[in-house]
Amino acid sequence: MQSSELLYLSRADVESLDISIADVIRMVEEAFFEKAKGRVEVPPKPGVHPRKDAFIHAMPAYISAINAAGVKWVSGFPENPKRGLPYISGLLILNDAETGFPICVMDCTWITAKRTGAATAVAAKYLAREDSKTLGILGCGVQGRSNLEALMVVCKSLEEVRAYDVSKENLLKYVQEMTAKHGLKVVPVSSLKGGVEDCDIVVTAGPILKHPQPVIESSWFKDGGFACSLDFDSYWKPEAMHSMDKFCTDDKEQLAYYKKQGYFADIPRVYAELSEIVSGKKAGRENRKQRTMAMNLGTAINDIATAKLIYEKAKKEHAGIYLNL
Ligand SMILES: NC(=O)c1ccc[n+]([C@@H]2O[C@H](COP(=O)([O-])OP(=O)(O)OC[C@H]3O[C@@H](n4cnc5c(N)ncnc54)[C@H](O)[C@@H]3O)[C@@H](O)[C@H]2O)c1
Repeated sequence: MQSSELLYLSRADVESLDISIADVIRMVEEAFFEKAKGRVEVPPKPGVHPRKDAFIHAMPAYISAINAAGVKWVSGFPENPKRGLPYISGLLILNDAETGFPICVMDCTWITAKRTGAATAVAAKYLAREDSKTLGILGCGVQGRSNLEALMVVCKSLEEVRAYDVSKENLLKYVQEMTAKHGLKVVPVSSLKGGVEDCDIVVTAGPILKHPQPVIESSWFKDGGFACSLDFDSYWKPEAMHSMDKFCTDDKEQLAYYKKQGYFADIPRVYAELSEIVSGKKAGRENRKQRTMAMNLGTAINDIATAKLIYEKAKKEHAGIYLNL
């Protein structure tokens, strides 16, 4: 490839590479480890907000260990599903870490789905009970699917999924698809409470609201449970978050940045970020009783690490097309 060419990978190109979720989990865990060692650059993501509760975020990162640099430009528009469009869309640019030249542009929807599930799985590996059997999924969309797929890799004892969605149609589709795909018992529940109570792991993946009206109470959540929130504090009441023995996040600096922007009005002190737990600087779960939570906002190191995996495989398999700069 000449320095004046870049590889373009459509969504179909990225998907055709068939990269396993286990490989994405491995890259995501490695990226967290590198962060703990101070060998990554990842400023908090700035965003613009053209419509209510919509965002377009810029997510740059550099990971020296894998020589990967780039930026994801990703949007989430809550009204899109009504238009028949996915909530998330966007592009990711990889740059040559030596010259700075863009070397690849790719659709970022697959990455966003998979790396977020992978980050939940990494968090669960250290913060959930090893014998976790029941999983509550609140919000049965793209993330509800990828988080289940990734959790199955690390939580080998999972037996039952309790799924909740405000849309009956989405819920039933999810139950049918996930039952067929994973061979687990996937049960639709008619209330949010049913997706939390008695669950060993709870993942919330509904819409992010700047001014949330949370409903999950601390008494609904089981001692020894692990919660992962992908939709900020939209679902969890402050008292429920404060009841956690270990409140963690994927990036402390980013969480503080968002707090300054007016989100997260009342959250507990962060015990650790995932990088500190992955690297052994801080302990993960220490007993069967602890209530643990990961407030994962999504970090660009996970996108860029996954994008590098995609780029290398795409070159090997001659996927995509080269474009002139
Ligand atoms: N933290 C991260 O790294 C990260 C990454 C990607 C997406 N997200 C967030 O995850 C969430 C889900 O994203 P997605 O791509 O799966 O969206 P999606 O549109 O594919 O799915 C969302 C689902 O939630 C349902 N829903 C809407 N309101 C609900 C409510 N009040 N209670 C329960 N379900 C409700 C919808 O019917 C839909 O099925 C979004 O908030 C998104 O911003 C977070």
